[in-house]
Amino acid sequence: MSKKYRIAWLPGDGIGVEVMEAARVVLDALDLDAEYIHGDIGWEYWCSEGDSFPPRTIELLKNVHAAMFGAITSKPARAAEAELAPELKGRGLVYRSPIVRMRQLFDLYVCLRPCKAYAGNPLNHRQAIDLVVFRENTEDLYAGVEFSPVPRELADVLGRLAGPFAPFAPLGPDEYAVSCKINTKSGSRRIARAAYEFARTHGRKKVTIVHKANVVRATDGLFLEEARKVAADYPDIQTDDANIDAIGMWLLKNPFNYDVLVAPNLYGDIVSDLCAQMVGGLGFGCSGNIGEKLAVFEPTHGSAPKHAGKQKANPIATILAAKMMLDWLGHADMARRIEAAVAEVVREGKVRTYDMGGAATTMEMGRAVADALAPVAAFGG
Ligand code: IPM
Ligand code: MG
Repeated sequence: MSKKYRIAWLPGDGIGVEVMEAARVVLDALDLDAEYIHGDIGWEYWCSEGDSFPPRTIELLKNVHAAMFGAITSKPARAAEAELAPELKGRGLVYRSPIVRMRQLFDLYVCLRPCKAYAGNPLNHRQAIDLVVFRENTEDLYAGVEFSPVPRELADVLGRLAGPFAPFAPLGPDEYAVSCKINTKSGSRRIARAAYEFARTHGRKKVTIVHKANVVRATDGLFLEEARKVAADYPDIQTDDANIDAIGMWLLKNPFNYDVLVAPNLYGDIVSDLCAQMVGGLGFGCSGNIGEKLAVFEPTHGSAPKHAGKQKANPIATILAAKMMLDWLGHADMARRIEAAVAEVVREGKVRTYDMGGAATTMEMGRAVADALAPVAAFGG
């Protein structure tokens, strides 16, 4: 009989593989009516096929309800080219991060990153921190519109249209590079709306708009203005805004002054690492990449090649990503059970991975969380 949910299972490489196995133990302990379908993705497919996110995996994602994703190694252009299979070299293949492509291809415009300090975690910056980052996930400096070398036509246009380009105009095409930061009104509004809707439906009091509009006037100015327009529809939620640099200091100093943060793509990337570190580091940072039709859940951390295969990595971030997936699929009951189990294991402190000062393996942590799942009855079904 076919299952209710088809879930793409994309471990990737490095520690992605191990943390996903551990998260699976937790999911399998729930009776979610789901089949998990493996998808090829990761560095090895770049080396052997010249594509880390092959077309068959893109097809798979068109036919699933949701996906879980582990982590993928990415390397700078020259290093990536060097590892290609000999027959693929010199063909002009360009490595682009598969997760960034996935976000753009499926219009997963919300990057939701809850950062909550679970009591008893020795890594908490302060107890009871509970922040939620809404990161715009498809545009900004991640648009992928980049030039290196810079074509003559582009330099000519910039020279004509932009006074501040003058110091760069005499440079040869190889002597500089240009990455375009592109932000749209609609893209800025929809991420802001997602943040405010979340705040309203989750009893959050405040949304902080993160930007650098005093310097990056065009794009960040637009983001700030559009987000403020959206804010006007939510008089019940407090609004403030902060520059990306200042928020780094303020968050560390007064984390309890903040609640929900909304930011363009790159600032959201940065601020969400900071927030994750305040609640235990990347072993605790989880993400949802959410669009209208598809959502992909992942730990915020990367593939940590140096830890790969050692069963050291903390799988809690991935387990919490699975929790987010259950919320998104409409199974708040199961999501609550996972979160309560994580909270319990962290509070008890008997099973800790190396990052928490313990010696438990990735799988031991996964099993500990699965064993701590309360019976269904305890949560009213
Ligand atoms: C993240 C990561 C990715 C990003 C990398 C792996 C491309 O840092 O999800 O935050 O920059 O978005
Ligand atoms: Mg990041």
